Amino acid sequence: MSDHKRTLVTCALPYANGPVHIGHLAGVYVPADIYVRYLRLRGEEVLYVCGSDEHGVPITIKARAEGVTPQDIVDRYHKIIDESFKGLGINFDIYGRTSSDVHEKNASEFFRKLYDEGKFITKESEQYYDEEAKTFLADRYIVGTCPRCGNEGAYGDQCEKCGATLSPEELINPHSKLSGGELVKKKTTHWYLPLDQYENWLREWILEGHKEWRPNVYGQVKSWLDGGLQPRAVTRDLEWGVPVPVEGAEGKVLYVWFDAPIGYISNTRELLPDTWEQWWKSKDTRLVHFIGKDNIVFHCIVFPAMLKAYGDGYILPENVPANEFLNLEGDKISTSRGWAVWAHEYLRDFPGKEDVMRYVLTANAPETKDNDFSWKDFQTRNNSELVAIFGNFVNRAMVLTHKYFEGKVPACGELQDVDKQALAEIPALKASLQKNIEGYHFREALKDAMGIARVGNKYISDTEPWKVAKTDMERCATILNVSLQICADLGIAFEPFTPFSAKKLRDMIGSPLDWDVLGNQEILPQGHRIGEAQLLFGKVEDAEIEAQLARLEAIKAAREAAAKAEAAKVVAPQKEECTFEEFEKMDIRTATVLEAERVPKTDKLLKLTIDTGIDKRVIVSGIAEYYAPEDMVGKQICILANLAPRKIRGIESKGMILMARQGDGKMRFVTPQETLANGATIG
Ligand code: 2FM
Ligand code: ZN
Repeated sequence: MSDHKRTLVTCALPYANGPVHIGHLAGVYVPADIYVRYLRLRGEEVLYVCGSDEHGVPITIKARAEGVTPQDIVDRYHKIIDESFKGLGINFDIYGRTSSDVHEKNASEFFRKLYDEGKFITKESEQYYDEEAKTFLADRYIVGTCPRCGNEGAYGDQCEKCGATLSPEELINPHSKLSGGELVKKKTTHWYLPLDQYENWLREWILEGHKEWRPNVYGQVKSWLDGGLQPRAVTRDLEWGVPVPVEGAEGKVLYVWFDAPIGYISNTRELLPDTWEQWWKSKDTRLVHFIGKDNIVFHCIVFPAMLKAYGDGYILPENVPANEFLNLEGDKISTSRGWAVWAHEYLRDFPGKEDVMRYVLTANAPETKDNDFSWKDFQTRNNSELVAIFGNFVNRAMVLTHKYFEGKVPACGELQDVDKQALAEIPALKASLQKNIEGYHFREALKDAMGIARVGNKYISDTEPWKVAKTDMERCATILNVSLQICADLGIAFEPFTPFSAKKLRDMIGSPLDWDVLGNQEILPQGHRIGEAQLLFGKVEDAEIEAQLARLEAIKAAREAAAKAEAAKVVAPQKEECTFEEFEKMDIRTATVLEAERVPKTDKLLKLTIDTGIDKRVIVSGIAEYYAPEDMVGKQICILANLAPRKIRGIESKGMILMARQGDGKMRFVTPQETLANGATIG
């Protein structure tokens, strides 16, 4: 498929601070796996590398919150993530870890060479230091009040309430998330990669040389370059990470985004200690990075600049097919908010349906824009496409072959137009599938594969071999022969997309996995015995979908309750000062509600007749949202009696009922601790 000898495919190393979810799968791992399986099917030599990204501040925050070590956290999630990938048929040649010894050594060496060759610059800056915890604080560890929206829990890098990007300096009343204490500014020195020096080179390499990259990738790179690159710090004052291998750098580690991409190289070295350089330093290798859109700058600008600075023959990526984001039921997927479908939970809840998720995530892949995953769509795609078209076709072809021909591929007689037309569509779909996968258009490629199933399903429906069998066994034989050849095509075409089902199909009919025979009219020879027919895909029942939706509803409800509780805590600021005389003017007293009714054609108003101790009067009050009329009758309340009368909806209202209102708007009437005589004055 290309003049290159081999392909090195890397997938973004997932952070080991949580399990992987469908957003990760759709963005990176499923497309990469399709690509790798396809290349292997074409007989290409491929190395498929991934691993856990085990450094970074979120991991240390999680460890502190749970009272365990960062190593405990990454051990836990590395295992869960590794098993999830395997469960979905995503089998890397190596799934390594950036907490491994090989990586620490490799990343240190990488840094040290750049350091020795003067490729870094150093800068002294003032950063926040927590005197109690005796540590510099990463931006995430600094909390304070957001200058934009007043959220008191904003982080030093972002306010999660209003979404503003912040720097710690902008926070009002910044303090330490670790100790809760005050912060001081202290001087610290870090190493920086002067990206500005690589700007022209990057411009030429990408903007001139890779116009074929996806528009989202190319566009993001262009806007970074047009904005001008700045030196980037590659070290941090932290304990968790690869120690900076320089004397006098105690307490400093490599920035996670410096060490993580080196992890691709480390993991290759771990797998192939003697031959890894063939993959990283040979012009005979094409390197392809699969990533999500939030990683574009690191894979297209920072890591290439690091490799360029290092020299020594390192190759650069031939392509970086980054996807956009997948949403879930119309809302952004978020690990911290728990809004996700986790891979390991999916595998637990839908055993035997690994391929269904792969299929749905590919059919809906966010290749050119953000896309949405919904459980209803998942069910429809399974039941109306995989079951009703692909599975149904294969099942009919196999069952009828057993029924009429003792499970042996019957002879193919003379082909009629309908047979020829069906068979002619396959090579065209094969060519399109090939072109689409090689151009990283996996959604379209899946449509091509599904196109083959549609051709087969339509063919068998149109030709009706079960009817033909009553009058013309020879013709029935031809139809089933053609149908079984198409089944064999499907066993090949679907291997990249739904590998479990493709293998099951090949095993059932005893067909080969060989790209070259796809579209061949005699894949299965006459007389070849097929196995028992089993269903390729099972239905997804309504109850299964409802259970998933209920789980999401529960997450949403818990989140809304938490947000409400938070809002209720917001206290209105104190009003402008008033004098005692001003206060004295207000006649506040107790009263009892005698009658209550809704004011017609309003949602909010109650008309209350009350006994004030002085008189009986009517007050119209906007409390119908909080109290039904029957809740009010007989209640003792407090009123402002001398408020100037007002006409509300044609009713004269004399006075005001005192209400307490909390931050989220909830209101309750104010009542004395025990019942008093009506007209008791308050003040
Ligand atoms: O965004 C992420 O999940 C990062 N952990 C990806 C790292 S990719 C590579 F550079 F290691
Ligand atoms: Zn804010």
